[in-house]
Amino acid sequence: SINVNDPGLITLVNKLQDVFTTVGVCITQGAILRKLQSGWEKAGDADAGFINQVQNPIDLPQIVVVGSQSSGKSSVLENIVGRDLYIPPCFEDVKEEECSGNTSCSLPRGTGIVTRRPLVLQLINRVPHKSEQINGVKEEIKTTDSASNADEWGEFLHIPGQKYFDFNKIRDEIVRETESKTGRNAGISPAPINLRIYSPNVLTLTLVDLPGLTKVPVGDQPKDIERQIREMVLKQISKPNAIILAVTAANTDLANSDGLKLAREVDPEGQRTIGVLTKVDLMDDGTDVVDILAGRIIPLRLGYVPVVNRGQRDIDNRKAISVALENEKNFFDNHKAYRNKSSYCGTPYLARKLNIILMMHIKQTLPDIKARISTSLQKYTAELNQLGDSILGNSANIVLNIITEFSNEYRTVLEGKNHELSSVEL
Ligand code: GDP
Ligand code: MG
Ligand code: NA
Repeated sequence: SINVNDPGLITLVNKLQDVFTTVGVCITQGAILRKLQSGWEKAGDADAGFINQVQNPIDLPQIVVVGSQSSGKSSVLENIVGRDLYIPPCFEDVKEEECSGNTSCSLPRGTGIVTRRPLVLQLINRVPHKSEQINGVKEEIKTTDSASNADEWGEFLHIPGQKYFDFNKIRDEIVRETESKTGRNAGISPAPINLRIYSPNVLTLTLVDLPGLTKVPVGDQPKDIERQIREMVLKQISKPNAIILAVTAANTDLANSDGLKLAREVDPEGQRTIGVLTKVDLMDDGTDVVDILAGRIIPLRLGYVPVVNRGQRDIDNRKAISVALENEKNFFDNHKAYRNKSSYCGTPYLARKLNIILMMHIKQTLPDIKARISTSLQKYTAELNQLGDSILGNSANIVLNIITEFSNEYRTVLEGKNHELSSVEL
């Protein structure tokens, strides 16, 4: 069995993911600097190719959420995190001036307009310390602010070193950062936002939330929005070490599920696809998802998990996630179709299942990841040596040290010296 309080391997992987993103930035800047120094005309295709390579670092295992627009992807993700991550944005038909540019306007969330850039969400389980020092200063967290909790915070990769204890501010930053790349009018961008959440209340997982599959362009969306989103999703899920969370609303036909269809394209054997059935509470009386769960409709090796998220009215009424999770538990415990198997239903079961699958997946792909780390290490070392003493070279060297350190840690894990990580069972 695994100890969720020891994030071990997954934390290492998250760290590596960050380091490589940073290396990508450093080296890209280095290459651009060289171009500026030598004149753009002299910068050959080799540089351009190199930039593309470093921006596409090692594909580490992560869980990618896919499905139609409004199938409940973001709701599933928020329930797993236990926090509201998306500020309720305006309905599409509300005029800009009615929001007066205020990202926290209190208009309710409309369906299908929330996620417009991939959100790479690293959840990190941490044990709270009683008298914790943060940045060398003893914390003074206002307990009057119910949104603040000293034990839980978020950090964005694009704002290094800043801890967000107020989740409203996290939501504001997601909106601000989304709009900086996509504008305010429903545009989309494939550039991810990287957010880490440290909390004693989460299981260590990396999740990617994606814009929903949609057919009809709205607002500033391009005519070929369907193709663009499809490509964005395919790019994320075709990585062989992506675990696909295919979200389908239980009150729609499973055979028409966009998420499952796309998942099948890249994972025909269903080796790395988990089905999530949302809106089980909205099914017609007398119907249930038991046949799907039993694998009698579209079987998946990793199975399906039914969940109940907050409905639109719950969101409008600002129902707390904790309350929603209680309602979900009551729903499955008391429903005649599910009560015998209610421990295999709902968000907490989904989170546990994801954590274990992710661990197993990482263990399976370790040899391959290790090989790619050594290759990249050689390539980066060579490139960093070329950068020499420049400021960029120095910061890149720091990153290189982190990678080297990491590789050593990784080797320890690989050689099985870390016993806690070698006891994963499903
Ligand atoms: P996304 O576009 O796939 O990210 O979907 P959202 O998570 O934004 O949800 C779309 C709408 O469906 C929102 O109004 C949610 O409140 C609602 N919704 C999502 N999951 C459920 C569920 O399990 N039950 C009910 N009743 N409503 C849900
Ligand atoms: Mg969404
Ligand atoms: Na939505």
